[in-house]
Amino acid sequence: MCHDAAGNQHRPESGAPGPGRRAFGRLLLAGSGLAALAACAPGTPPAPLPGASSASTTAAPAAGASPSPSSSPAGSADATSVAPTATAPAPASDPAAPRHSLTDPASPWVVVNKHRPLAPATFVPADLVRPAVRLAVTGEAALLNSTTAAAAEKMFAAAATAGVIMTLASGYRSYVTQSATYEGYVISRGQAEADTASARPGYSEHQTGWAFDIGDGGGACSFQPCFADQPAAVWAKANAHLFGFVVRYPWMLHGITGYYYEPWHLRYIGPEAATDMKNRGIGTLEEYFGLEAAPAYL
Ligand code: DAL
Ligand code: ZN
Repeated sequence: MCHDAAGNQHRPESGAPGPGRRAFGRLLLAGSGLAALAACAPGTPPAPLPGASSASTTAAPAAGASPSPSSSPAGSADATSVAPTATAPAPASDPAAPRHSLTDPASPWVVVNKHRPLAPATFVPADLVRPAVRLAVTGEAALLNSTTAAAAEKMFAAAATAGVIMTLASGYRSYVTQSATYEGYVISRGQAEADTASARPGYSEHQTGWAFDIGDGGGACSFQPCFADQPAAVWAKANAHLFGFVVRYPWMLHGITGYYYEPWHLRYIGPEAATDMKNRGIGTLEEYFGLEAAPAYL
């Protein structure tokens, strides 16, 4: 729970939208894939999980556990190389444990945040493709890297089977596009508020091809806090992990991620890791990989 400047309470994850919820959402340029600014003031971040440690270039949060995923809907290469465990996230003690880079933008485990810019800053995925899903955008915003695209196709199809229509509302963004996106926020909101909703160029997951924003079939609440109650968001929150995705910027964890709740922003890390995170109740990649919180730019 938090309050906006007018004293309205916000609880986007529960109940029907009320006056406070409506006051909470401010939409910006949804057509080009920009997210809304959420009006909760940053609060005290949750305590780090036991075992959290400083950054490493690669990680195996599932050190020493049995690699026994029940299913691998996404079918990606990394999907078979993660070993879930019940222990706290920490670098692997077993040097032979499978791991992925946390710094290579081509790695499914790359962690990009306000402390961890892409390197190189102008990285472009080598395997951008347009997924065969319902698109709400055209051009580069309809692209994802090939692994994410394949996983998205399976997830969107499963959602449709469950009666939930999901759209791809914003996928890949080049460094140049992210620059324009961020500047749009700065012009309309000022830099401090822009930084709570839009990454600066070179700091966005969208540039990796591993992340995308979803919309609801009905188009309601796009990029607004009330999207959390739309069928696509509810379904994704419950099921996206099965396809390798996490909701990257969860409710009230902005003290760790640096961004307010984005129920539309999904990030691929592979089914095993995503399921492991969900089963262990870990909300952020920073906590999962034992990295420092990144509430602000250094
Ligand atoms: N809205 C997310 C943080 C981005 O701009 O990448
Ligand atoms: Zn996004």
